[in-house]
This record gives sequence, structure tokens and C-alpha cells, in this order.
Amino acid sequence: MRRGIARETKLRAMGEKRAYFDHAATTPLDLRVLEAMMPYLAGAGWGNPSSIYAEGREAAKGLDLARRRVAELLNCRPAEVIFTAGGSESDNLAIRGAAHGNRRRGDHIVTTAIEHHAVLHAVERLEQEGFRATYLPVDGEGFVDPGSLERSLTGDTTLVSVMYVNNEVGTIQPIAETAALVKQRARRIVFHTDAVQAADYLDLDVERLGVDMLSIAAHKLYGPKGVGALYVRQRTPLQAQLLGGSQERSRRAGTENVAGAVGLATALELAVRERVTRAAHVRELRDFLLGAIPADLARRLPSNLSLCFEGVEGEPILVNLDLAGMSASSGSACTTGSLEPSHVLTAMGIDEDTARGSLRLALGKDNTMEDCQRLVAALPEIVERVRRLQPSYRLAAERSAASSAGR
Ligand SMILES: Cc1ncc(COP(=O)(O)O)c(C=O)c1O
Repeated sequence: MRRGIARETKLRAMGEKRAYFDHAATTPLDLRVLEAMMPYLAGAGWGNPSSIYAEGREAAKGLDLARRRVAELLNCRPAEVIFTAGGSESDNLAIRGAAHGNRRRGDHIVTTAIEHHAVLHAVERLEQEGFRATYLPVDGEGFVDPGSLERSLTGDTTLVSVMYVNNEVGTIQPIAETAALVKQRARRIVFHTDAVQAADYLDLDVERLGVDMLSIAAHKLYGPKGVGALYVRQRTPLQAQLLGGSQERSRRAGTENVAGAVGLATALELAVRERVTRAAHVRELRDFLLGAIPADLARRLPSNLSLCFEGVEGEPILVNLDLAGMSASSGSACTTGSLEPSHVLTAMGIDEDTARGSLRLALGKDNTMEDCQRLVAALPEIVERVRRLQPSYRLAAERSAASSAGR
């Protein structure tokens, strides 16, 4: 370990570039986005967009333009775009807002077992409040079976939420077909999709997708953190979740993050404009990383590679990669010292031990072939080393758990 830290210190001293493979967690800010935001951070548009004087009017102009730009990219009306503080808030507003807004009509919500916790926890909270929920299973590849969705719908179903792209394994659900299936059953059922991981690479035209609500977040698109948007089709009943001012047509109170909204609009515009080249670039890198391993990748995001190593845990692999100057993520969520296997992988039928050895590589537009060659050169040795150390690792963990329990 000490040798690893020494090497890391040396790398930093030499100014060696780190290789970042965690673009599904967040992305670095594109300098073109920062440039577009600057007038609203430290220029003429710094005012409160609700104020009537010049500084406020300038901010309101920026906000208004950002809303129109996002609406154009989603193919909706500007009034159907609500700016939020990110993907989690968009999901919470969609789920809680539509469930409560439609409560008169029914109390049943359908979602999937592999959603992000921003959706799952919101649905679980609604269950505590008296709603009923169905969590659709997925197959071994991570796809929802249309038959099980169809069977889950009842006369009381008011909301269906199915994610566009899964953040861990990159599976792309056929959202247009799924929304159509729900609408065939009953037009009044509100259909939401979490498109947070899809926005970089896939079509977000809400008319073509046929969705009523769609969540996005700027920081997955080389935009700023803490800003997102929720598209809500007009006349969709939605109960505001943040109360106070009448901003966002009384659907989301709070002084708007004007610079953030401008950043989101710019990041989305760049993503749409550069989508084809970005996708081709990450696909080439992903295929290189995958090497000769056979895999069906047709319905997966081109930037995602999710691997499981038998007999090792993901966490020490990540630590060793970090020491070697590389950032990646595992599917495991570290909760109070115990490594919980990912709910996504277990829903796909992967056993808990194997799921604990997961590694998610999420590529981005600025990754290079050299980054990937560096990873390929380092990873086998790291996995082997971790595997060899694993029994003692386990023993040490058990001992420390026993000693802290005894304290
Ligand atoms: C699919 C998905 N939904 C929602 C979120 C939450 O977004 P945010 O971090 O902007 O709150 C994420 C972030 O990882 C995500 O991947």
C-alpha cells in the first residue's frame, strides 16, 4: 500500500495525467459551457430573474432563452420545461408530483427493480404514504419484459416510470415502445422516463418517445452539477414538491439557478450536435477495452462497460486503480462499512458474491486510446494481486468488525 502511495505521489510530481473512467458518475465541465455561464455568474445577468429592474431583466432573458433552447432540443414547449437542482430532484418531482397530483384517479405506481435510487426511494416513500407499487423484474441482460409490464397495469395505475438507460450496466430500454404499450392500455396513465444517463447519446425527442415526463441532469453532459430539468407534458397533473415562490409556473419554488440553466442548455446543445462523433469515439474505445470478449452490445450505451471479476471485491480494485492514477467505479454501494451488492446486478440474477466484484467503466469524450491502453496494462495485474490478497482482506475485515463489535 505504502509503495502504491509513493508511486502516486511520484506520478503527481511528474504531472502525469490521470485517466478518468467514471463519466456515469459525473463529467468534467466543458469550457464552452463555462464560457456561456459566465455572464450569469459574474457579468450583467447576475440578478434575480423575478426582479423588475435591469439586472433582473437580464437574468430573466438568460433564463428564458435557456428554457427555449432546452425545449427545442426536447421538441416540447418552453412552458413544459421545469428547471431543477439535478437528476434526483427531477425524479422526485416527477414521481411524487404525479402520484399526488393524480391521487384522485388511483394509487398504483409501476416502476422497475433497476431504477436509480432517486426513483426507487421516492416510490418507497409513497408506499409508506399509502400508495401501492409494483417493481417490474428484469431479465439476465437487464431488460424489462413488456408482458410483465402489461400484466402489472390495473384500473388504479396512475404512473409508470421506466428508466431510459441504466446507470450501472448501460442497458437501453425501448422507451417509445414501452410508453406506447402503456398508453394503449390507458391514455390517462402518466409515463415518466429517467433519461439522466441517456442524454449524451440517445434521442430525447419527447414526441417520438411518447413520454409525459422526462428527467435530465447537466453534470452527466459536461455541464455544471446541481442543475437539471424535468419535462412535463402540458395538462399532466403535477403537485409541486418545493413550496414557496411561484417560480417555474408554481411547480418548483426557489430563485432559479440562471447560470446553471444556461449551462444545461449549452451542454445539451453540444451533446446533440456532437452526438454522432462522441458515440463513435467511445464505442471504439469500449470495443478496444472489451477485446475479444464476446458480448451482445446492441442495446447498450456505447460508453459503458460493466464487468464482474469472480473471487474479488470491487472496492480494492478501485483503490488500486486510483493509486495507479485511474478513476472508475463499482456497482457496489458502500454503506456503513459493509459492501452491499448492487440492486441492479442482483435484479439481473447475478449472485451476490459475483456482484461484489463489479467494475463499471464509463467512457467519455475526452478519453484517449492511451488511457485505455494504460487500463488494459494495469487491470489484470491488479485483479490478480487483489485476488491473492482477498482471504487476508476478508479475515482482516472480519477481525476489525469483531473487535469494533466487542468495543
Ligand atoms: C439514472 C440516474 N438517475 C438519476 C441520477 C441522479 O442525478 P443527480 O446526481 O444529478 O441528482 C443519476 C445520477 O447518477 C442517474 O444515473
